[in-house]
Amino acid sequence: MFHWLEERPFFFGVGIFLVISFAGLVMIIPHFIQQSRPLVGTKPYTTLELAGRQVYIKENCVACHSQLVRPFKHETDRYGSYSLSGEYAYDRPFLWGSKRTGPDLMRVGNYRTTDWHENHMADPSGVVPGSIMPKYTWLFTNITDIDTAWAEAETVRRFFNTPYNKDIPMLDGSFTQVKLSDTVEGGRSDALAEAKLIAAQMKNQDVKDMVAEGKIPEIIAIISYLNSLK
Ligand code: HEC
Repeated sequence: MFHWLEERPFFFGVGIFLVISFAGLVMIIPHFIQQSRPLVGTKPYTTLELAGRQVYIKENCVACHSQLVRPFKHETDRYGSYSLSGEYAYDRPFLWGSKRTGPDLMRVGNYRTTDWHENHMADPSGVVPGSIMPKYTWLFTNITDIDTAWAEAETVRRFFNTPYNKDIPMLDGSFTQVKLSDTVEGGRSDALAEAKLIAAQMKNQDVKDMVAEGKIPEIIAIISYLNSLK
């Protein structure tokens, strides 16, 4: 048998390569089939939150805001516990960012409210004197692209096994589920139901009227995303 191999330098070379890289292969190959493991309490995004995430990417908020709390006392005092890799299991792409012109937003949902974001996004310096964050007035009239968000959720459910409509363990030992409709029409009505809850906490009458007509302005999607960052 080895005679055969010794007479064929190419296959002999392949054999040597496999023998030498054996230890490496047994270390590396399992990682290709391993899934990233979400931290207990980390949920996939709802359709509306994903739509808001797409607005966040589109508006390039990541140019000024990071989403990564480092393990330093001055950061954990300000933002809360430092970030763990499992918290990003459903983030595609990651929005860690590399520049903090504004504060980190990883846990902004813990200390800012819908009402605060509504005022701040329309006029940041009206809420935080001296703020250099630009006004995002067009978010109040642009209509959210829910269909693309639903398609993104459906894609990660199918290809990355994202656990929509499944029990997800929470920190207190209970379980919760994140609903994802299997049709785009269902996705639209789920998003609208979520949007109505947010619109009820807002005071902009035009926004409320749009939601009553079944349209979701981008400000609602981005607020739902910001509220989900905890
Ligand atoms: C030019 C840089 C810049 C861009 C772009 C920017 N921001 Fe900001 N942002 C800031 C600065 C500076 C602050 C701090 C002052 C303030 O609160 O307005 C801030 C504050 C915030 C806060 C308050 C955070 C806290 O802990 O108080 C939120 C929320 C926020 N930005 C969201 C966004 C979103 C969403 C976008 C994209 C639509 C965005 N920002 C784009 C600069 C920016």
